[in-house]
Amino acid sequence: MPTPSTRLNGQFALVTGASSGIGAAVAKALAAHGAAVAVNYSHDADGGNAVVKEITDAGGTAIAIGADVSKEDQVQAMFQQAIEHFGTLHIVVSNAGIQVDSPFVEMKLEQWQKVIDVNLTGQFLVLREAAREFIKRGVQPDVSRAAGKIICMSSVHEVIPWAGHVNYATTKGGIMQLMKSTAQELAPHKIRVNSIGPGAIKTPINHDAWATPEAEQKLLTLIPYNRVGDPADIGSLAAWLVSDEADYITGQTIFMDGGMTLYPGFATGG
Ligand code: BGC
Repeated sequence: MPTPSTRLNGQFALVTGASSGIGAAVAKALAAHGAAVAVNYSHDADGGNAVVKEITDAGGTAIAIGADVSKEDQVQAMFQQAIEHFGTLHIVVSNAGIQVDSPFVEMKLEQWQKVIDVNLTGQFLVLREAAREFIKRGVQPDVSRAAGKIICMSSVHEVIPWAGHVNYATTKGGIMQLMKSTAQELAPHKIRVNSIGPGAIKTPINHDAWATPEAEQKLLTLIPYNRVGDPADIGSLAAWLVSDEADYITGQTIFMDGGMTLYPGFATGG
């Protein structure tokens, strides 16, 4: 578990796609810093419940909520359930995302659509419900300087093109403008919207890229800092970014990637 603090005491958070990987680590980090957390899962109820148990065993507060973020009615029901349970929300981390990889010319419309639906439409639906709740409630000065904080989980592929993953990279590019445009529109309501752009982090989504020493060695050629990231790296950043210590940051993507976005090939070429 991350080092505990009271930085997010009295705040209520929702993390989508939190039954494993980066979402689970973010949920645990927010809880360790004092937030009560709704742990969303889409199909992996056991994973969601295990994250809740880990948080509550460590003395934190959490509930699990099932919902597919690509479905409007399910997203609305998830927010309703979280808000009924906690009273309101102050932090929403829109993390749920998938990869369905295929060479471009062989990509089926369903493979394209599924990734757009979860990774991009899901972000729209989650951000819209979050903004509605934050605007309705407004700032609670004894809780936070902002009415609400949103993090979109993006990727280095927001800026790095990715052959064989065109659907995925397209959603991450789209998330950038969703994040920036909503940040601009919602700032007058004291709502901060930012993205985290993880590089290669050891999670189930990219298991094959780090699972064997050979694969990991190949992956490290893309990472100047020479280590594959841990989900807890992203958890720490998220817990800080939604805190009042970061109150003046909005509309930004913070890449956390060990230098993957530094064009590593140019270290010896060019
Ligand atoms: C992808 C991972 C990949 C990483 C770096 C992430 O957005 O989901 O599969 O390892 O980017 O390329």
